[in-house]
Amino acid sequence: MRILSGIQPSGTIHIGNYFGMIKKMIESQDDGELFAFIASYHAMTSVKDKDFLQKNIMEATVNFLALGMDPEKSTFWVQHDVKEVLELYWILSNHTSMGLLERAHSYKDKVARGFPTNHGLFSYPVLMAADILLFDSNIVPVGKDQIQHVEITRDIANTFNNHCGKEIFIMPEAKVDEIVATVPGTDGAKMSKSYGNTIDMFGTAKGVKKQVMSVVTDSKGLDEAKDYTTCNIYKLCELFMSEDELQVLQKRYATPGEGYGHFKLTLLDKINEHFAPYADKRNYYFNHPEEVREILAHGASKARKIAQAKMEIIREAVGLKY
Ligand code: ADP
Ligand code: TRP
Repeated sequence: MRILSGIQPSGTIHIGNYFGMIKKMIESQDDGELFAFIASYHAMTSVKDKDFLQKNIMEATVNFLALGMDPEKSTFWVQHDVKEVLELYWILSNHTSMGLLERAHSYKDKVARGFPTNHGLFSYPVLMAADILLFDSNIVPVGKDQIQHVEITRDIANTFNNHCGKEIFIMPEAKVDEIVATVPGTDGAKMSKSYGNTIDMFGTAKGVKKQVMSVVTDSKGLDEAKDYTTCNIYKLCELFMSEDELQVLQKRYATPGEGYGHFKLTLLDKINEHFAPYADKRNYYFNHPEEVREILAHGASKARKIAQAKMEIIREAVGLKY
């Protein structure tokens, strides 16, 4: 079984990205053959600053390696190192109706929020379809917001297969972990770098503390019992705590005497405890960029071999042969 997922290097990685996607992706190395890439072309739809993009690509790579991406067991590369994906993107574009892309929520959302739009942003689901179909992926672990893009991919694959009269592409399935389908941000809305409500995964101690302390709560005082079921701090604690630890926390909510500040410090401790073991490995890779580049070159060469073989079949199917 082939599992494929990509992450955009478009900003600092937050705990929503981690629980929504990265953690599952790393764990899936034990479930099947993992294909994981840094979606550098996708990031261009929002990142226009060249230094920022370059820095983010390296940072995302280092984070994945620190968190346990195994470049021998899995295939791990940066999207723009395997250019076959752009050829497939163009071929698939000619089998994608305008209506299908016009219905994409993520595009409509960006338009509604007044983001500057361009053709890259509009056609982004076609590039994502190319990523997925080029590698004959069976499973695509994603956050809830990406399910529609996998559905669009299936739609495009179907249209293409029908056109060719044979099954060139296999149907991928999105895999979403319902429990952590949407990690709330400090304001209770979906955590997202574009909403400025994130808690960073590897931020500075001071920075993460500031983010945690800014989690929005109601205004109950120290001497009142509090309702954990509607509390943003508790929802975030659920990601880091065992059932037993949560039971203890529930009792603390029910017992007057502590304020939200105390619960925030408990959350902060859990976050620090969770990510601390990865810090050394992360520093090591930051200090050995040559080693990181070698790992990526190795990953790209593994991915390219598969991509080239698939493109032979696709070119033949559409008549790009003489
Ligand atoms: P952002 O919303 O911060 O821009 P991205 O869109 O780059 O994040 O998301 C990268 C991956 O992380 C996607 O698979 C997405 O579904 C997942 N993800 C992002 N935010 C969350 C969240 N708050 N909860 C769960 N998963 C998330
Ligand atoms: N669009 C995804 C996101 O924003 C990233 C991505 C690009 C991806 N290509 C992919 C995810 C292919 C899964 C499969 O999070």
